Amino acid sequence: MSAASSSSLPPAVRREPLSRVEPGLPAAWYRDEAHHRREVERLWHGGWIATARCDEVAAPGDYRVVEIGGQSILIVRSDAGRWRAFHNTCRHRGSILCTESAGRLRGGRVVCPYHAWSYDLDGHLQSTPRRMPTADFDPAAFGLLPVAIDTWGGFLFVHLGSGPVQPLAEALGWIPERFANHRLDTLVSAHRLVVDVQANWKLVCENFCECLHCPPVHPELCRVVPAYREGGAWGLQRDASGRPVAEPSTEYREGARTLTLDGTARVPPFAGLDAGQQATLYLPAMLPPNLFLNVHPDYVNSHLMFPTGPGSVRIVYDWLFEPRALADPAFDLEHYVALWRTTNAQDARNCEWQQRGIGARGFDHGVYLPQEFDCHRFADWVREALEDPVAGQRPI
Ligand code: FES
Ligand SMILES: [Fe+2]
Repeated sequence: MSAASSSSLPPAVRREPLSRVEPGLPAAWYRDEAHHRREVERLWHGGWIATARCDEVAAPGDYRVVEIGGQSILIVRSDAGRWRAFHNTCRHRGSILCTESAGRLRGGRVVCPYHAWSYDLDGHLQSTPRRMPTADFDPAAFGLLPVAIDTWGGFLFVHLGSGPVQPLAEALGWIPERFANHRLDTLVSAHRLVVDVQANWKLVCENFCECLHCPPVHPELCRVVPAYREGGAWGLQRDASGRPVAEPSTEYREGARTLTLDGTARVPPFAGLDAGQQATLYLPAMLPPNLFLNVHPDYVNSHLMFPTGPGSVRIVYDWLFEPRALADPAFDLEHYVALWRTTNAQDARNCEWQQRGIGARGFDHGVYLPQEFDCHRFADWVREALEDPVAGQRPI
């Protein structure tokens, strides 16, 4: 879920309602195996994918393995403190290297479980036990296959593309500026949920792009943000100076300080926020295809999504806080987890219902109503990226 909202938006992200009903993406794109493979190749293997938090791969030798559309990617922290990413594939005869999803590499080596070739943390081949020497064998030609990696906001992003790679900072567009004072890179996860959802990944993106569904689907969220009961949160739209374009009766529940079930806050706002940012209780952002942020003055609910088939995704939900908040013995995790745990589950359930319904014979495509303008923007991006992957990513 999400709204189209909020204050201090850079002008480039001003949005307007659609002036007409627009056709949605073809229904077959949400279930067809061949089309899904095309999307994986173009959109998921041709763009930046958020994979994990940096602090999951904190010390030299730490590693994470992530699956991105059938590709197994190994992320390590090198001895020099750099993050490196490689295909999790041995250059001898192609075995998977790390068989666990996370851990620490003993002795700073990646050792293949098959014939025990080993690689250092920069991917150089270091040893080939029991290999009979031949003049033609050049270890330097058998390094691990590298994958582009970069970071922002405390997230590790990888890019599987083989051609020129759009810089991550460019792909992120206005997102870093918008959250500069939130210092997302300093936050740590206090709670994680991993959920398999039986829905096409695009349905999950579209769900995040609109709040027209909030009144029937999210009663708890609407209690803390009463404006969501009104026309898909259109009232939260701001002009370039931050003034509401159409003032809703009440944006947030009276006295609310953050988005929790009752709107109360139990940890201080992020240290770097100004007064206006402290009063902006909700800032959503999405970098398609897989990073979603629900940003509040004192915590963040992030979603990373990974497709597991044309009709299924795995979503990793994190609740991120400043370390000082977690250090407080009175820290009340449940107080902060409850709202989005409920809301995220409601969204996932609706996406699963939509996935089932979208397979109906004769259902060619849905439609986007005026308030679903961000769904339309997302659909445009999908269409463009399928035609021309070089067009790159842009935030929603
Ligand atoms: S496949 Fe890795 S050492 Fe043989
Ligand atoms: Fe929602």
